[in-house]
Amino acid sequence: MSPPSLPQKSHVILCRPGFSELLCSELATFHSIDGQVLGPACVGLKESTVVPPLKTMVFARQIMPNAILVKDLEPGKAAAEIVKRLQILAKRSNSPEGHWTIHSFSMDDDDALAAARKIAKAFRATLKKTDLEMDSNYLDPEIFASTARKNKDFVIQIFGSSKDQVYFNISSLSTGISIHEGGVQRMKRFHDAPSRSASKLSEAFLFMGKHPKQDDTGVDLGAAPGGWSMVLAFHGTHVIAIDHSDLDIQSKTHLAGSIRHLRENGLKYLPEKPVDWLVCDMVMNGSQTLEVLSNWISGNHMKDFVVNVKLPNNNSWPKAIEALKFCETHRQTGAWKFIGAKHLYHDRHEITLMGERA
Ligand SMILES: C[S@@+](CC[C@H](N)C(=O)[O-])C[C@H]1O[C@@H](n2cnc3c(N)ncnc32)[C@H](O)[C@@H]1O
Repeated sequence: MSPPSLPQKSHVILCRPGFSELLCSELATFHSIDGQVLGPACVGLKESTVVPPLKTMVFARQIMPNAILVKDLEPGKAAAEIVKRLQILAKRSNSPEGHWTIHSFSMDDDDALAAARKIAKAFRATLKKTDLEMDSNYLDPEIFASTARKNKDFVIQIFGSSKDQVYFNISSLSTGISIHEGGVQRMKRFHDAPSRSASKLSEAFLFMGKHPKQDDTGVDLGAAPGGWSMVLAFHGTHVIAIDHSDLDIQSKTHLAGSIRHLRENGLKYLPEKPVDWLVCDMVMNGSQTLEVLSNWISGNHMKDFVVNVKLPNNNSWPKAIEALKFCETHRQTGAWKFIGAKHLYHDRHEITLMGERA
């Protein structure tokens, strides 16, 4: 059976594979948008829908406004379709200009990736023959993402949803698309980190646009083996690490001197004095995590926080909605400059809640 598809032109929103149902539920509940699951990692919206800003959608990784379903996947014909679209945009006098790149990708689907890559290659070859001026403004995706960009710079996204279904779109950075291919920004593995979990906290700080500063204080609930504590210590924070299990950092790093390990129960532990940061990655039922966070907030035990909420493998939406409503309720108090959640790239069956006090 072929996968469902939208009319020829629509908007496509991308997420981690397996989360498109959750993304649809989120769009319906929090944005009053009727989305359609197009595949494990993508949701389609009718052309008349206003696409919410990427940052406001928890389960979205990337947006493809005005995406077009490629009619014929033969690479030469598909490339011609992209050129045609560029010509239409040029006629409408909103011709894309500035530097540009191509993101050709899939979400963990090798056949779909191969289909997208072939089309990207054919498109570049066609362009070299027909429009040398535009071709000279091309930048490699990594250079495009790592150097200063202007709003008029644009990206041609070619997304393989399956080996038979490829979408493309052309959008300037002013539309709020992620500058990273498929919206995926991998964190560098933290030097000497005892767990890959450290990348999650680094990604959360990047999302918040804020990280701890020198001589901040922080509590890390569920700290073992110590990845998050090391990230905090790396930023100069004095850390109290709470876990019954051993940390695996003593011999590994000079940062260990900034980390005090207490074998206490993270469900009950509260600091003697308020701290700058609460971070929490305890493996437990999401409702218990929210209860801990609620106690810390109501007792003013910290300023800012990063708290990971685990979702059950099946029927995740009731837990997800509980966490998102928690953020919404606290947002309304006006006590927060930012409070929200994101399904980070390094998150698996979990979402990360973040808060910065006003
Ligand atoms: C996913 S691991 C944390 C990984 C850590 N963030 C890192 O970067 O290395 C979850 C930890 O939560 C701890 N944990 C679970 N329940 C706890 C509780 N009630 N009190 C303290 N720690 C708890 C477990 O012992 C486990 O070490």
